[in-house]
Amino acid sequence: MLIIGGIASAIGVAIALAIDWFPPQATEEAHKIDTLYDVLLIFSVPVFVLVVVVVLFSVWKFRMRPGQELQDGPPIHGSTTLEIVWTAVPAIVITGLAIYAYAVLHDIEKAKANTLEIGVTGQQFTWSFQYQAGGKTINSPQLYLPDHRPVRLKIKAVDVIHSFWVPAFRLKKDAVPGITTDVRFTPKTLGAYPVVCAELCGIGHATMRQTAHVISPTAFAAWLKQKQAPPVAAGGTSAGGGNAAGKAVFASAGCGACHTLADAASNGTIGPDLDKVLKGQDDTFIRTSIVSPDAEIAQGFPKGVMPGNFEKTLSKDEIDALVDYLAQVTK
Ligand code: CUA
Repeated sequence: MLIIGGIASAIGVAIALAIDWFPPQATEEAHKIDTLYDVLLIFSVPVFVLVVVVVLFSVWKFRMRPGQELQDGPPIHGSTTLEIVWTAVPAIVITGLAIYAYAVLHDIEKAKANTLEIGVTGQQFTWSFQYQAGGKTINSPQLYLPDHRPVRLKIKAVDVIHSFWVPAFRLKKDAVPGITTDVRFTPKTLGAYPVVCAELCGIGHATMRQTAHVISPTAFAAWLKQKQAPPVAAGGTSAGGGNAAGKAVFASAGCGACHTLADAASNGTIGPDLDKVLKGQDDTFIRTSIVSPDAEIAQGFPKGVMPGNFEKTLSKDEIDALVDYLAQVTK
């Protein structure tokens, strides 16, 4: 039994380590988490495999044979030695793993110089991100991070519990109404990574997705500067005939994730098809639909799915440009 268990455990560990479990490592902390995960696999897979082998072996070895129907098994009064062993070994293993896991966590959460602090707000059903620049709070519907600079996110929730999760960063933390939670990490790979809500938070939970963009420090500085002084909506026409600033807002606010709009080449189906529901509508209707989405709901769509905070996360100029753009391309 021990030989079979040993061989099965070795095969189990080999398979567990061979599987590519995670997305690319986009932070400096990611490889520590992945190593921790591998060590946990090395310890936990044999436990699972050994238990299964003992159960299957016993079922086969001690099965009831013809003529034994009325017999009882031998009386067993327990074994003190065995009980000490099976209590002490797991206790030592678990204590060791807990100490190791604590050391990894402690290392990851260490405060670092030149840390960039960014606010994260979770609400039904979107994330928004707050930056401090030039004495002002700048709201962004997408997360932008400079490469290789330590970041500390301060996470809040305004309604129910959400969970901020970026799989490529290997971090996840609950966003809880009434308290601020935080995570620290240092992005190390340029790219765009999904931000996901990992706590069932209502009907739109699955749509609570944004993107974390890791960009160069120069690009980040330029982005933050541009955010401080949003371009005026006037002037500039996009290829589709709508105003270019509005089209940019449509893209950056993530509207296309839920809505179909031919001019923006988006094909989301969570919310109404804008080419249809906005056709022939005036600016007032379009504006109301953006800032108070529940005022009038398109047939067949539930209330409360579209975030009601665009008046806060977008500037007045951005909303003006977006309304103008939508009116033009859905005429
Ligand atoms: Cu927010 Cu799920």
